[in-house]
Amino acid sequence: DADRTDRPKRVLLAKPRGYCAGVDRAVVTVEKALETYGPPVYVRKEIVHNKHVVETLQDRGVIFVEETDEVPEGALVVFSAHGVSPAVHEEASNRNLRTIDATCPLVTKVHKEVNRFAREDYDILLIGHEGHEEVEGTSGEAPDRVQLVDKAEDVDKVDVRDPSKVVWLSQTTLSVDETMERVDQLQERFPDLQAPPSDDICYATSNRQVAVKAMAAECDLVLVVGSQNSSNSKRLVEVALQAGATDAHLIDYADQVDDSWLDGVATVGVTSGASVPDVLVLQVLDYLSERGWGDVEEVTTANEKIAFALPRELRKDLDENP
Ligand code: F3S
Repeated sequence: DADRTDRPKRVLLAKPRGYCAGVDRAVVTVEKALETYGPPVYVRKEIVHNKHVVETLQDRGVIFVEETDEVPEGALVVFSAHGVSPAVHEEASNRNLRTIDATCPLVTKVHKEVNRFAREDYDILLIGHEGHEEVEGTSGEAPDRVQLVDKAEDVDKVDVRDPSKVVWLSQTTLSVDETMERVDQLQERFPDLQAPPSDDICYATSNRQVAVKAMAAECDLVLVVGSQNSSNSKRLVEVALQAGATDAHLIDYADQVDDSWLDGVATVGVTSGASVPDVLVLQVLDYLSERGWGDVEEVTTANEKIAFALPRELRKDLDENP
């Protein structure tokens, strides 16, 4: 059609995209645990919310479980990047499990904030997605002080003891804009509402949103590589659409692209969630290149240099057997 012949086919590739420091650390933790202790290594929940990562580790001898009671007494279990509540640590210790905690340090930071505000007798309004593992772990630090605020209608359901002692905290992987809307609504109900001491939405989540926003308006289609249960990946689809992309889809693999999505499309934006290895993005670029979208331009909005040390309990054994 005219649209197609008028404008050249091209790809805009967001940067930053893909692995964040917390995911990299969690995946390397499991890999090193396999090398150091040998399989099987048990992991409670998906180590990170990515199908490819989970399946690759499964092939190498990782056994994923939902709860620690599925892990044999005395075995090794790794806790996922999303964090766990104190109750889970306790269960593991009751079963004499050896544990390695791969909780992202930026999630641990929010756990500490919950503890601190609970100690100071605040009511804590945790903005986050109901049922997400991170939210379960974070709330579990002070279950009777934390109330979850997910949808707009949850704002009216919140019930606090003292409106002058209320603080909001959040899940690390939310849409920045949507979270600020929720905060504004909460603030209307509670004018003395306090903010977290520093941003709870992590650098990786916000950087990936800024990057996709910068290119979305030019894109006829945005392909976000990521899994359906990955919160930050799903937000990238929403942010792309809100920022003006004509169409946007979340895909795990290149073969999930429906050729009809490309009808009449000139500019395709590509990005990926924080739990996505770049090899999956390269496969999408190959797929596009085979169909005429070989011209790729990277759109850079930030350079990330952050990295986290591996969990202490693992480092100790690595130092002994370098
Ligand atoms: Fe951590 Fe943010 Fe990644 S909380 S795991 S750095 S998405």
